[in-house]
Amino acid sequence: MYVRSLTIRDVRNLEAVRFEPGPRFNVFIGENGQGKTNLLESIYVTCALRSFRTSRLAEVIRLGQPSARVAAAIRRGGMERELDIVVRPRSKIVRLDNKAVRPLSRYFGNFNAVLFAPEDLQIPRGSPGGRRRFLDRSVFTWRAEYLVDVQRYERALRMRNALLRDPRGSPKQGPELLTIYDGQLGTLGARLLRRRAAFLADIAPRFRAAFDEITRAGLCADLRYEPAVAGDLHGEEPELAQAIESALRERRRQDWARGTTSTGPHRDDLTFLLDGQPAQRYASQGQLRALVLAWKTAEIELLAGSHGEPPVFLLDDVSSELDAARNAYLFDVLAASQSQCFITTTHPGHVLLSADRVDFSVRGGAISLEDSA
Ligand SMILES: Nc1ncnc2c1ncn2[C@@H]1O[C@H](COP(=O)(O)OP(=O)(O)OP(=O)(O)O)[C@@H](O)[C@H]1O
Ligand SMILES: [Mg+2]
Repeated sequence: MYVRSLTIRDVRNLEAVRFEPGPRFNVFIGENGQGKTNLLESIYVTCALRSFRTSRLAEVIRLGQPSARVAAAIRRGGMERELDIVVRPRSKIVRLDNKAVRPLSRYFGNFNAVLFAPEDLQIPRGSPGGRRRFLDRSVFTWRAEYLVDVQRYERALRMRNALLRDPRGSPKQGPELLTIYDGQLGTLGARLLRRRAAFLADIAPRFRAAFDEITRAGLCADLRYEPAVAGDLHGEEPELAQAIESALRERRRQDWARGTTSTGPHRDDLTFLLDGQPAQRYASQGQLRALVLAWKTAEIELLAGSHGEPPVFLLDDVSSELDAARNAYLFDVLAASQSQCFITTTHPGHVLLSADRVDFSVRGGAISLEDSA
């Protein structure tokens, strides 16, 4: 799949942008603060209806404007689809081929994008929440329907937490409602766990091989999922659901006291391992970066190789954070994929590609074709 044309209005500093990217490598060159990440964010919003920078999508609306809009024509398997998203302060309007999409779950999967940003390089040593979002982003690109489960889980969690904070707000008996939420979190949580585990099983061999190729130092990299509720992640879903529900029931007293839900997949973590040791405590800075580069290139290979229509890749100025050899490795992987890539950079020399490449310049929120030198 690839983006044939893109229209952006009032997304952060992008006031009015319209252009037709090339089918392979699109390089966006600009100084700091000109709108490069805003462009990738706009493309990502058309894929996930979420931003990768903020959980409050309305933040993307250009200051002083009532709404933001991103529209894209996507070519996929000989067909073209029109995606159109308008973001308002408290709502969004999503259209597919000029028709309102309802439910929104029908939208996902039409367009997939893998994002690789410099912040990702801090993931192994960052917060568990950051790692969960990083993992969830990958799982979603791999299986689009995952995002619907995530959103349902998050909704049930918000309702449970609201009840725990203020039981008087609900007309029903608190404990009775809590039982309902526990059941929902069990069922939906088991689905999340199973999908995360299946994705990790799929990516792990490529991740290990990529790390070995990147570092060539005989070190072993691995991934370990750390569930808050113990259970067989590859076992039957109803059993996992039961385990989560029981764990929630056991924590009730504590959860009432604290006003929040203390266990479940929203508390899980992912540990990057280096020679069997948790990388956050054991690995060097360079090794941590190599772990993330291995993850992202493994993800690119995994998706490029699966079901025919590889996603679009969004690379946000990653090259300036990698040394020359690792940067070269990344571009080898991109060149071997068939995907359309959107690559931002402050230094065009870092982008080690010559064929099938279109350069654009980004200045003060405007995007134009670079005069070819
Ligand atoms: N809601 C908003 N409304 C208007 N402008 C905004 C909004 N949010 C951010 N900006 C502006 O967007 C610009 C930053 O754009 P962006 O993050 O895309 O820069 P960049 O080109 O990626 O820079 P860098 O190379 O430093 O990463 C800043 O000038 C900022 O003031
Ligand atoms: Mg940026």
